[in-house]
Parts: sequence; structure tokens; C-alpha cells
Amino acid sequence: MTDTACGREGRGFCLSLSMAPDEVFGLEPASRPGGGTDAVAALERHLAAQEALSSKLGLFADRLPDAFDGPECLYLARSIYPALQKAHAFEEAELFPLLRRNSAERADLSLTLDRLTFEHFEDETFAEELVDTLVDHVCGRMPTRFAMLRTMLRSFCEGISRHLAFERAHLVPMLRQLENAGHA
Ligand SMILES: [Fe+2]
Repeated sequence: MTDTACGREGRGFCLSLSMAPDEVFGLEPASRPGGGTDAVAALERHLAAQEALSSKLGLFADRLPDAFDGPECLYLARSIYPALQKAHAFEEAELFPLLRRNSAERADLSLTLDRLTFEHFEDETFAEELVDTLVDHVCGRMPTRFAMLRTMLRSFCEGISRHLAFERAHLVPMLRQLENAGHA
């Protein structure tokens, strides 16, 4: 598919203009060597990476339309999905099973983890839509409607900020307790 507005082949080329988002947001592979012994540190790292991403997206939204910058927009677009996907993969494959194993008596926790998993799905779906919109704005595949883009960015940031605040307030202390008891 040729992107005539960009004059280049497809979305992949536009995204390849970006740099490595992992370097900026401090992401590392989700799986921890040796299992769950670094679970608190890994969770803290993923939370911080997503908070940094949300902060950058919020600042970007605040500067629209005057300071719209195409390369920065593409860079942010490329950063969104990896940051979310790595955090979600870690939580769903390692953290949540660890919490379920060690808090089996808490029915409310199981429901909470189910809800957080569903929010991951919602956030990733929104992230895909947001990335498409950001790339379309830069590549000229749709009229640039900055008010709509700003609203979308802020809505996305609000959603993931609520999710992260909950995990920081509830999961981190729970995990520290397990760690202190020698279970994490
Ligand atoms: Fe999460």
C-alpha cells in the first residue's frame, strides 16, 4: 500500500522513523530471571514506564495545535502499544497468577484481577485506535482535527492513569507483603 501523503510505502515506513521507545520509558523484558523474586521491582518498573508514557502524551496533547511535531507524534505513537503490552503481559502471565496462588481465600481479589485484565483489553483496544489516529494525522490520511486528537489523548491518559493509580495503591503493597512473607 502506498501512502501518497507521506510519499512512502505504508504505515510501517512512517513508524520506522521512530527511535527505540524502550530506551526512553525504561522498559525491560517482562519475564524475570528466576521467576517471581523480582516481582515488586518489575511491577514498579512497568508502572513507572506507563506513567512516563502517559505524562508525555498529556504534555503532547497540551501543546496542540501550536506545537504539533510530526516526528514526535510518530515516536509517541510507536511507544504506546509496546509499553502497555509488556506491562500487561507481565501482570497477566506472572503477577496475577502469583497473587491468585497466595491469596486464594480472597474472592474479592479474584474479581479485582479479572476487572484489571478486562481493563488491559480495553486499554489495548483504545491504544490501537489512538496509534492509528496519530499516524493518520502525521501522514495526512485524514484531516487534522486537533480538538478531537487532544480529547482522544486526554481520554486515553485518564483511563490508564486511573488503572495505574489503582495498581500502585493496591497491588504494590499486597506484593510487598507477599515478598516479606517469602512468597514473592
Ligand atoms: Fe495493569
